[in-house]
Amino acid sequence: MIDNKPKVLLLGSDGQVGWELQRALGVISEVVNTTLSGQGGLQLDLLDAKAVRETVGQIEPDYIINAAAHTAVDTAETEVDLSRRLNADAPELLGQLAAELGAKVIHYSTDFVFSGTSDKPYREEDAATPLSVYGQTKLEGEQRLLATGADALVLRTSWVYGNYGHNFMLTMMRLFREKGQLSVVDDQIGAPTWSRMIAEATAQIVHQLRMSAEGTAPQLGLYHMTAAGETSWFGFAQSILELMDVSCNVQPTSTENYPTPAKRPAYSVLDNSKLNQAFGLQLPDWHDSLQQCMADRLT
Ligand SMILES: NC(=O)c1ccc[n+]([C@@H]2O[C@H](COP(=O)([O-])OP(=O)(O)OC[C@H]3O[C@@H](n4cnc5c(N)ncnc54)[C@H](OP(=O)(O)O)[C@@H]3O)[C@@H](O)[C@H]2O)c1
Repeated sequence: MIDNKPKVLLLGSDGQVGWELQRALGVISEVVNTTLSGQGGLQLDLLDAKAVRETVGQIEPDYIINAAAHTAVDTAETEVDLSRRLNADAPELLGQLAAELGAKVIHYSTDFVFSGTSDKPYREEDAATPLSVYGQTKLEGEQRLLATGADALVLRTSWVYGNYGHNFMLTMMRLFREKGQLSVVDDQIGAPTWSRMIAEATAQIVHQLRMSAEGTAPQLGLYHMTAAGETSWFGFAQSILELMDVSCNVQPTSTENYPTPAKRPAYSVLDNSKLNQAFGLQLPDWHDSLQQCMADRLT
């Protein structure tokens, strides 16, 4: 039984990860939800520095958890300024406010900070050389947040999907029902990660930080947090189809045949051992989570 629940200010409560965080954090903390639209929480635009400062001042949270971001990877190529303001300026501001208040910040980043030329899972200390504006601005956000000196935790995750929001799994499910045939790239390799697993692991981290005795809490900083295992977008699509009661002819194709405005890493599997060592956490295999996620959808 936890008394004295920590107060969490959650930004981006209606995003994929934010939506799951509301549920997962609700058990162990007092959560103040904020959304850009004002639906489902306090209205807060992360681009409005004055409003962010005032909200943090009023709430006086123990934790600021930032699940808001500019996540439209292709659109970011032409929305460079907006992408930088949201993905880099905003996390830095949150770090500054948290440092002033003595609060902790938890922020999410991406496998797209890597170029994808590796042939083994990336570790936190590996050089990050992003291929896209999204990857570049997310990398700047990590660095600028950590440089504020706040007690900050940056969790890099990848290929996020779930039953809420916009993501590859929901798009594929719709396309499988609408089309008899589909081509999906098979030369980009990563780890599809269920938003619920990210949220549950985050809640465990908050709980552990709260419960650890003074001076024994795991180190904050940069961590990789993705599902175990790896696959291609084609492999991911095939697995989604196998779990559905529809038929569709899914064929592999190459990135070359499917050009997009933003370049994506060919290989962006992340090594999660640092997270495991510090917090004893390991997210389940991507395929097991996909099964669970889709079963959850049907119940
Ligand atoms: N999606 C992925 O595949 C993926 C992969 C790796 C890492 N990540 C990282 O994981 C985190 C969560 O991603 P996600 O997939 O949950 O993103 P998401 O579903 O796109 O949600 C992003 C949220 O940010 C909000 N937002 C946008 N502009 C805002 C503003 N000016 N002020 C306040 N809120 C604003 C959006 O609100 P509206 O919907 O109202 O615009 C939305 O609720 C992000 O840091 C992302 O970079 C995601």
